[in-house]
Amino acid sequence: MRYVSTKHLKPGDKLGADLVASHNRVLLRKGRELTRSMINKLEILGYQGVYVDDKISEGLDIQDVIDPRLKHAARAEMQAFFRNVETNRIHQARKRIPTIRSIVHSIVDEVVANRDIMINIIDIRAYDDYTYSHSLNVAVLSVVMGTVLGLGKKQLYALTMGALLHDAGKMFIKKEILNKPSRLTPEEFEEIKTHSELGYRYLSDQMEIPEEARIVALHHHEQYCGKGYPAGLSGDDIHLYGRVCCVADVYDALTSDRPYRKSMLPSDAIEYIMGGYDTHFDPRIVDALTRKIAPYPVGTYVHLSNGQKAIVVKNYQENILRPKVRIIADGEPTSEYINLAYDMSALNITITGIVNE
Ligand SMILES: [Fe+2]
Repeated sequence: MRYVSTKHLKPGDKLGADLVASHNRVLLRKGRELTRSMINKLEILGYQGVYVDDKISEGLDIQDVIDPRLKHAARAEMQAFFRNVETNRIHQARKRIPTIRSIVHSIVDEVVANRDIMINIIDIRAYDDYTYSHSLNVAVLSVVMGTVLGLGKKQLYALTMGALLHDAGKMFIKKEILNKPSRLTPEEFEEIKTHSELGYRYLSDQMEIPEEARIVALHHHEQYCGKGYPAGLSGDDIHLYGRVCCVADVYDALTSDRPYRKSMLPSDAIEYIMGGYDTHFDPRIVDALTRKIAPYPVGTYVHLSNGQKAIVVKNYQENILRPKVRIIADGEPTSEYINLAYDMSALNITITGIVNE
């Protein structure tokens, strides 16, 4: 299977994986042939793309760092938790912490067990799932970077818990401002900025979780150079988990469709983050991210500099710009593979772009 953006889907394309909406409801089953009206519906719901099974991606299995069932369970739990916070049901929200803790343990255990896997799965989500999907993605990205940074399991648990709850304070910000499709006024931006402290205070007053987890809510918008908020801390004065969450937060936001802009491709989002190396972001953490996120994930259809087209079949952490690819000719997969990282005869071939069709 491979990821195809909604605008490039055609009637007759076959779904490569179940399409699961909030509350674990299966919208469309794997193998379903899409019709024009289904594609239109996907666009209206805000799906940026889906996985399809087609000729050129034949035999390609895309592995995720965590099991899709765990992902769905975590997303549903975060949705329920945030709803409780938003509606001021403190008691109910507090009662969810043990379940969230066990989800945190499962996420960390799976990521640690799969530490050789790169992040390949592009998250499939609709507009209304953003907050819950975002908190889960930020948690998974954070723990993946945490493993590269050499953190132990106990530290990873606290980091993951903090990352899942980093935006809890947004539940206290007006929806009109959070979802505003146009530029924020300076006053509105000031209001958004209060979510770091509001979240930290709520988690400190109401939730029994470690202080290092709460601090993620307080520090995730601080910038390495000192230009962030709320306190304008810089360098190592920002808690390590806050610095990790900051990179994960920006990466996931850039690769998602937002009311005010379209999503970026992984390759462009990585380039953006590299632009903040040593200023917005801690360089060690940017290095950790770029070891684990492939700019051309498995299943990406690419142009090569020799004029051929190919599909990415494997990525290498030590050389993320040079994956192993399978040559596609006349829309059909061939038996020719090129390992851009290790074939000596392919050293002069590069990926020049992504095929849009
Ligand atoms: Fe935030």
